[in-house]
Amino acid sequence: MLRFSIVYSVLTGVLLMATGTAGASDSGVGEAERKIVVAHRGASAYLPEHTLPAVAMAYAMGADFMEQDVVMTRDDELIVWHDLTLDRNTDVAQRFPGRAREDGEHYVIDFTLEELRRLQVTEGYAVNEQGEQQANYPDRFPLWQSTFRVHTLAEQLEMVQGMNRSMDRDTGIYPEIKDPAFHREHGKDLSRAVLSELKRFGYDSRDDNVYVQTFDHDELKRVHDELYESLGMELKLVQLIGGDGHDWMVNENGMEELGRYADGVGPHYSRIIDEASTQDNVIITDFVRLAHRNGMAVHPYTFRADEGQVPGYARDFRHMLELFYEEAGIDGAFTDFPDRVIQYIQSR
Ligand code: G3P
Ligand code: CA
Repeated sequence: MLRFSIVYSVLTGVLLMATGTAGASDSGVGEAERKIVVAHRGASAYLPEHTLPAVAMAYAMGADFMEQDVVMTRDDELIVWHDLTLDRNTDVAQRFPGRAREDGEHYVIDFTLEELRRLQVTEGYAVNEQGEQQANYPDRFPLWQSTFRVHTLAEQLEMVQGMNRSMDRDTGIYPEIKDPAFHREHGKDLSRAVLSELKRFGYDSRDDNVYVQTFDHDELKRVHDELYESLGMELKLVQLIGGDGHDWMVNENGMEELGRYADGVGPHYSRIIDEASTQDNVIITDFVRLAHRNGMAVHPYTFRADEGQVPGYARDFRHMLELFYEEAGIDGAFTDFPDRVIQYIQSR
């Protein structure tokens, strides 16, 4: 097995651009040569996030995994979409006047799939005090240019599996169960629906190239303790780690608890290199060590090369990658720039 692993590593190193980076290990722990790249919302630095063209581009770049944030529509369809709302990156307000909630936002869960398919999808933007739309990332794909649409989880899985066949690859998927508590409040069991859909597409075992992720600690445990048995499946699980509410996870006891059911953790990268770091003093926390000790891979989010997005303690994006992959010892990363991270891993 070890010999296979070494040969596999060498081969994948040679074939990297043709076949993607090395495949994911079961745990990612202690297999330093097997670093993965997760295309965050597709190749979202280059095309609008969570659109099928962005998925195709990330696939062609050779990302190991495609990330899908998943939310549910009013008529119980699963779509690949990051926000619970539609306002940041569609024309929903113009197309469906009068359908906003009291907070002024239009919620996916209030629309049918047929309605959502009529929306124009674009890059993320905010509206300034003058009422002008301003792109969140000004150097990315232009606002409202070309034509992009909402798509379902099934449509993306069909596409990835189709490309896996035509390209003779096994690119993985990395679906996130997005805010299951919100969906439950609206009478919808998002986790069960997502898992059922994955099973319908043949993803049902830990050997499959899938990580299921969520920020919701109780829900990840529910998936592990109840839903897997109920649905007759078991996929690898990743506990996402966000802000203050997740502080309890980031110590000896917390990591031990997570390690009982999670195969990996997905923290914001500031949990791994302290934000107080400078170029002369990079402070690496014990996060990776604790996760590895408890058998979990570490896949932080979100690595972006846009102007202003590289932390000051790194000289540039490549240096940021070096610090995280080499010095801190992460096993993979979510990135909007899969090509840049693959290029870096190739050159290691
Ligand atoms: O799921 C990993 C990363 O995507 C978490 O952040 O908000 O982009 O889903 P978010
Ligand atoms: Ca996500």
